Amino acid sequence: MTDLLLVLGVLAAAAAGLWAWRRWHPASFWYGIAFPLRAVLVYLTWHHVASGCKLTRNRRRFRLTLDAVPVVGPASRSTATVVEHKRRVRRVDVEHAPRLGVLRPTRLGWRMRLRLHDGQVPADYEKAAEGIAHAWRVHSVRVVDVRPGYVTLWATMRDPLTEVTLSPAPAELLTVRPGKLENGRDWVMDFRTVPHWLNAGATQSGKSNLANAVIRDLAPQPVALVGFDLKGGVEFTPYAPRLSALATTRKESVDLLSDLVGEVENRMVTCRAHGARNVWTLPEHLRPVPVVVLVDEVAELFLMADKSEKEEVSRTATALLRLAQLGRAFAVHLIVCGQRIGSDLGPGVTALRAQLSGRVCHRVNDPETANMTLGDLDPAALDAARAIPAETPGVCIVAGQDGAWHRARSVYVPEQAAEQAARDWAHLTPDWDALVGSVPVVHPAA
Ligand SMILES: Nc1ncnc2c1ncn2[C@@H]1O[C@H](COP(=O)(O)OP(=O)(O)OP(=O)(O)O)[C@@H](O)[C@H]1O
Ligand SMILES: [Mg+2]
Repeated sequence: MTDLLLVLGVLAAAAAGLWAWRRWHPASFWYGIAFPLRAVLVYLTWHHVASGCKLTRNRRRFRLTLDAVPVVGPASRSTATVVEHKRRVRRVDVEHAPRLGVLRPTRLGWRMRLRLHDGQVPADYEKAAEGIAHAWRVHSVRVVDVRPGYVTLWATMRDPLTEVTLSPAPAELLTVRPGKLENGRDWVMDFRTVPHWLNAGATQSGKSNLANAVIRDLAPQPVALVGFDLKGGVEFTPYAPRLSALATTRKESVDLLSDLVGEVENRMVTCRAHGARNVWTLPEHLRPVPVVVLVDEVAELFLMADKSEKEEVSRTATALLRLAQLGRAFAVHLIVCGQRIGSDLGPGVTALRAQLSGRVCHRVNDPETANMTLGDLDPAALDAARAIPAETPGVCIVAGQDGAWHRARSVYVPEQAAEQAARDWAHLTPDWDALVGSVPVVHPAA
């Protein structure tokens, strides 16, 4: 009896110890206990899971089988059938799962490399990922790396985007780090690589929060920020100290867009005169200040109350498209936010969308908006966008121009933080009239 009590006491103490370890130091518990157990489970069940997810292939193999052969002869004449067991080598189909490499633990799960069967493509694994995640009862499984003949899957135990915090990173010119990618890396928006961005999502999905994060990160940089806020200026007016120009009415928008197009044309003249293909190849002293244009709700720019506004809307559409087409080389960048940006807004919108190569799709109410934002990408990106829940504003699907997409979440930047940054860096705000009023710089010898 005392022995039993002793054993029970030891077991209870061990369980309490494990519970405390997991509670107080989850990271070492994961690497020391939970991951090794998971790894054993994964190796033991992989064949079964791969078969269920249709990732296995049948291969012909020679197998030694024990066959029952009826005996022919005097004995066979009796009423009872006599059989004899004979060993034979036969060709049989054997199911093979893709070869699983060494599991490597990560903070939130593990990575595993798989060797593709002949004829398989990474898309087969993307399709199977959800099934694998269910089979192992993990949060998600994603294809994170593709090499010829191999794919790497990343399984996560919980959503890494539930809480997003950022480690301070050195700010390079025209680069912002608004949040985290699902793979744990910083989400980097580099305007020099991806010049224009479309930021779409339903109301309260986190579009303005992303704009706040961009403003907060760009405010300390030597760039001019320009805002279009036709919701009466309520969104961007608090950032006015750091904005070189802000349009809050349609009339102001038309004027500001024409200033911007004029500025791009000036830059073009300067570049041509100096034999430069873009502003970055100009001598440093001639290089103009980059301009980042934020449009809060693009639909407002395109909506017409009556026919009299038709002319203004069409000028707006043409100017925005021109900025998007030419801005890249001349350091004028766009971030266009909107709940919808489809052809229903009028002609020109689809062409504008095609120029916005950076895509951010927050939670959407209708599949059509996700389609409009991500439709030209992998269909899995669309499914991921449609699955974003309302409880996690700021979660989005991000795609750059290379076609790769990620789940990501912007870090929460309250308006006050962005306002504070706008006030703190107000002294860096280039004067708009001086900026657009400047005559193009042409070298005398040119
Ligand atoms: N990354 C985030 N992390 C945590 N909370 C967030 C995040 N992004 C947004 N939120 C919360 O969601 C709310 C709505 O976000 P936001 O104002 O950015 O939405 P929106 O898409 O701009 O909506 P609307 O179309 O109505 O302007 C914010 O007030 C904030 O509380
Ligand atoms: Mg908003």
